[in-house]
Amino acid sequence: MSRRIILVADANALTVPRSAAGATSAPSGVLLDTLERPLRDLRISVTDRCNFRCVYCMPREVFDKDHPFLPHSALLTFEEIERVAKRFVAHGVEKIRLTGGEPLLRKNIEHLVERLAALTTPDGRPLDLTLTTNGSLLARKARSLKDAGLTRVTVSLDALDDALFRRMNDADFAVADVLDGIAAAEGVGLAPLKVNMVVKRGTNDAEILPLARHFRGSGIVLRFIEYMDVGTSNGWNMVEVLPSADVVARIHAQFPLVPLEAHSAAETAQRWAYADGAGEIGVISSVTRAFCGTCTRARLSTEGKVYLCLFASAGYDLRALVRGNATDDDVDDAIAHIWQGRADRYSQLRGSGAAQLPSGDGSRIEMSYIGG
Ligand code: GTP
Ligand code: 5AD
Ligand code: SF4
Ligand code: SF4
Repeated sequence: MSRRIILVADANALTVPRSAAGATSAPSGVLLDTLERPLRDLRISVTDRCNFRCVYCMPREVFDKDHPFLPHSALLTFEEIERVAKRFVAHGVEKIRLTGGEPLLRKNIEHLVERLAALTTPDGRPLDLTLTTNGSLLARKARSLKDAGLTRVTVSLDALDDALFRRMNDADFAVADVLDGIAAAEGVGLAPLKVNMVVKRGTNDAEILPLARHFRGSGIVLRFIEYMDVGTSNGWNMVEVLPSADVVARIHAQFPLVPLEAHSAAETAQRWAYADGAGEIGVISSVTRAFCGTCTRARLSTEGKVYLCLFASAGYDLRALVRGNATDDDVDDAIAHIWQGRADRYSQLRGSGAAQLPSGDGSRIEMSYIGG
């Protein structure tokens, strides 16, 4: 009898007879979860390390020299990532984002970009292949990333004020380093370029207008992200969340804004245009206006676990499969099974004040482990 592999979150692969399992194994093109959300995006974390220690992500007290970062042997190799990514693409993924930690710290990341850039959707279209970076190594890497086939890039920048920026990254990186990286990415045509600012009320909200002013008219899309309760180490507190509506109001008072249509239903950001034609901004409101209903994102950790939500506590170990003698059909089957069982909608539940959050047991994965 043929056998079907079912992965259990954070447990070893479990093998059961195919006839007992009953689900489809062939990639269908449209794989739906229990809330009828298709699988469209894959965010791949390539390292859990970072050269920054952003206060809201990797507070230095927690991520110190004793922090147990993953050993090299635990990391999926580029061959393994490519193989898994291919299976996800066969299941309908059209957009791949490389994340970290800081993805540009992964040695020879361009080689992975090259492999992923060669993938196409089942009907022959190229993928949207992008990367989220802190920008510190971008000036050095922009050309080789572009040549390797990267489509675009998103750079994080939380302040224009240098002293504040250094305090927020807590690793003494200067604003100028990041601006140089952004300029280099623009110069090689990694477009559309986006800049992400995480807004912490009382820490950097005074930087909203300076950043808006700086990027207006540049063609770069500045996005303001509500500070989220990801992981368990950043000491998140609702008081420090500045609702996106306030961000929009502050900018609108200075530079009038008009709403724009979303590019796609699954987009994280709500878009606004400057009424005078100086470009657009976005707001990502995971706390005050959850977007779980249209969440099409799967996340692959550096060590090869699939997470179905940014706020999950447990992942499904695909590395065990790919390092075993699983066939592509086995991997397809496992991905289908995992996605078809997905019911995650953490932000929505948090927003509705649900008493019993599925991942609220204090063991949630960290942002630096899964890459946002
Ligand atoms: P685009 O493809 O350019 O629209 O990027 P993106 O918004 O999908 O990705 P990016 O890495 O720029 O993420 C921006 C912010 O949105 C980060 O703070 C992410 O953590 C957050 N984010 C991305 N996807 C999700 C999600 O599925 N749920 C939640 N809650 N936040 C998300
Ligand atoms: N809340 C919101 N955004 C965060 N990021 C990291 N930690 C948080 C958090 N707690 C952002 C990064 C990057 C993106 C991937 O996620 O600044 O722009
Ligand atoms: Fe590093 Fe990005 Fe986390 Fe900052 S937010 S510590 S740059 S992974
Ligand atoms: Fe998707 Fe989870 Fe974010 Fe909701 S909270 S949008 S389900 S990743």
